[in-house]
Amino acid sequence: MGLYSCFRRNIKVSVSIIVIIISVLCYKKYEELQNFTTEPRGHRLVFSQEQLNQYDGHVQDKLYMAVLGQVFDVTDGRQHYERGSSYHYFIGKDGSRALVTGNFNDESSMKDHVLDLSCNDLSTLLNWRKTYRKKYKFVGFLNGRYYDEHGTETNYFKQFKSKLKECETEKINQEKENLKYPPCNIAWNEEEGSHVWCTKTSGGIARNWVGVPRQLFTPGEEKPRCVCVNYDMDSDSTNLLKKYADCPDTSTMCNIFNT
Ligand code: HEM
Repeated sequence: MGLYSCFRRNIKVSVSIIVIIISVLCYKKYEELQNFTTEPRGHRLVFSQEQLNQYDGHVQDKLYMAVLGQVFDVTDGRQHYERGSSYHYFIGKDGSRALVTGNFNDESSMKDHVLDLSCNDLSTLLNWRKTYRKKYKFVGFLNGRYYDEHGTETNYFKQFKSKLKECETEKINQEKENLKYPPCNIAWNEEEGSHVWCTKTSGGIARNWVGVPRQLFTPGEEKPRCVCVNYDMDSDSTNLLKKYADCPDTSTMCNIFNT
């Protein structure tokens, strides 16, 4: 009896510890997401485009630039930003788009427009903003595409945030799909052409089954991609999967003949 209740108490303690660890991890993830989508704390100074333009290291001593409507003092990085250096383009403006396109000649009114960019590009942009927040001092908001004259988020910024949420959902769905249908290994050589094959780690997804190569057709995508399908579980679960021609049903490797 004594042993039994001790065992039960230990289980309770372990479960409590696990719950606490999971809660801390969830909270950290929540905080991380908040950091991405909320504005930094601090003085709500709002710059007009003309005011920001003056912070070029000459009219005003300091070098300022905006990323997604947030203005940073990048004077400490003058080696990158002063006149004549590689990234002077960004100074005195919001050139967020060029942070992913690398087009440092864009002086159009679209140089801070990003809604048409891919989820990957938006993620790159958020990483840039994270870098600026870490490395430089946040000094205020730019009255324009992302914030109004009071430093309040504009509709454009709200659209931007909902696109980020869509991207997050897309990423989660992609990860789920990758677990169900891990990508195949692919190789090409002159004698045999291309061949695809599955292993217990192909596509970087470790699992306890190998799978058979199949073509997975994704609506909206022009070409199918090769995925490993768990033959016993769901070789016929969707009609978006197609076998490779001249490849036995259960073979873990198929040659691809270009048609
Ligand atoms: C889309 C293209 C690119 C963009 C938007 C970009 C942007 C930037 C920016 C804004 C900085 C300054 C970051 C800071 O303030 O700390 C920087 C630094 C730097 N970039 Fe680029 N860059 C691009 C491509 C490249 C390429 C192709 C190379 C190399 C061939 C390169 C090499 C560097 C180096 C060496 C630094 C200095 C890093 C440091 O001192 O910490 N960049 N880049």
